[in-house]
Amino acid sequence: MTSGISGRRLSTFLLLIPAVFGATYNVVDSFVGPDFLNKFSLQAIADLTHGRVNYVDTATATAQNLTFASADHFVARADSTTVLSASGPGRNSFRLQSNSLYGNGVQIFNINHMPEGCGTWPAVWSYAEPWPTPGEIDIVEGVNNQAPNQAALHTTPGCSMPASRDMTGTPTANDCDTSVNGNTGCTVQFTSSLRSFGPAFNANGGGWFAVERTSTFIKIWFWERSDSNVPVDVRGGNSNVDTDNWGTPIALFPNTSCDIASHFSSHHIIINLTFCGDWAGSVYPGTSGCPSTCVDFVNNNPAAFANAYFDFSFIKVYA
Ligand SMILES: *[C@@H]1O[C@H](CO)[C@@H](O)[C@H](O)[C@H]1NC(C)=O
Ligand SMILES: *[C@@H]1O[C@H](CO)[C@@H](O)[C@H](O)[C@H]1NC(C)=O
Ligand SMILES: *[C@@H]1O[C@H](CO)[C@@H](O)[C@H](O)[C@H]1NC(C)=O
Repeated sequence: MTSGISGRRLSTFLLLIPAVFGATYNVVDSFVGPDFLNKFSLQAIADLTHGRVNYVDTATATAQNLTFASADHFVARADSTTVLSASGPGRNSFRLQSNSLYGNGVQIFNINHMPEGCGTWPAVWSYAEPWPTPGEIDIVEGVNNQAPNQAALHTTPGCSMPASRDMTGTPTANDCDTSVNGNTGCTVQFTSSLRSFGPAFNANGGGWFAVERTSTFIKIWFWERSDSNVPVDVRGGNSNVDTDNWGTPIALFPNTSCDIASHFSSHHIIINLTFCGDWAGSVYPGTSGCPSTCVDFVNNNPAAFANAYFDFSFIKVYA
C-alpha cells in the first residue's frame, strides 16, 4: 500500500498492538479486605492430605475470629488457644476457595504474612474438580518453616518439564503427573537468597507472588517486600499489567513436553493451612529441627501457632 495510513486507522492499529504483540492484561477481579469473605467460601471439608486439621465453616471462623477483614487487610488464622484431645479432631484452621473460576491470565498475590510454626503446611494454589484433570498450580507452599518457597504443577499423565529452562529457580522434579513419584508434581525451588517462605518472608514484611497462565506456558514470579525493583504495576495492583516488563520468572513451565492447554482449564484459587499430614508430617522427624512428634506438638502447644496466619493486602486477577 503506497498511500499513508489514515489517522483513524493508525490509532486503531496502535490500540491493537498490546493485545497482539504484548503480554498486557486488564483486571477482572479484585480481592481487598472484606471482598475475601464475599468472594471466597470457607470449606469445612476433610483434608485429603491427612493433616491434623479441622477446616471450619464460616460461623465457626467468625465466632473464633479465625477470619478477619479490615478495609485493606484480610487475615485467616488457625486456632492458637486450644489444647487438643488426642482422640478428637485436629486444630481449627481454614480452607478458603474462590467462588469464581479463572483461566488464562494473571494473578497477583500481595501477602504481608504467611502461617509459620512447626507442623504448619500453608498453601496458596489453584485447581478445579475433578482433580487432577483440570490441573493444579501451587504458587506458595512449604512446611515446618523451611524456606525457600516451592512452586509446582500437578497434572494427568503426559506432562513433563525440561530440566533446563529460562528461569531463576531450581527444578527439583520434572514429571507433573500425579500418578508418579508419590504425586510430587513438577517442582521448582525458589532462589534460596530470596525471603520467599516462612519466618524470613514474614520478618521482611512479605512480598508479591504472581502467576501468568497462557495456553503455551505458566510462569511464576516473586518479589520481596524490600525489593527496589518491583514492577510498578505489581506493586500497585494496577488495573492493567504488562508481564513483558517483569523479567525472568522464578518458575517457567513451558509446553515443550506438555500441552498446557489440554492439561489446564479454569481454576478456583485456594488458600489453606493444614498441619502435619502427608508432607509436613512425613519430613517433621527429619531435617525440620522441630520438637516432639508433629501431631503431639500440634495437639499440645496452641501458643506455638500464634503466628500461623495469612495476612493479605490484595489478590488481583487479570485476563
Ligand atoms: C480479630 O483479629 C484481628 C486481626 O488479628 C484483630 O485486630 C481483632 O482485634 C480481633 N478481634 C477480636 C474480637 O478479638
Ligand atoms: C509452544 O509455545 C510456543 C510459545 O509459547 C508456541 O510458539 C508454540 O506454538 C507452542 N507449541 C505447541 C505445540 O503448542
Ligand atoms: C488444602 O486442601 C486440599 C484438599 O483438601 C489438600 O489436598 C491440600 O493438601 C491442602 N493443603 C494444605 C496446605 O492444607
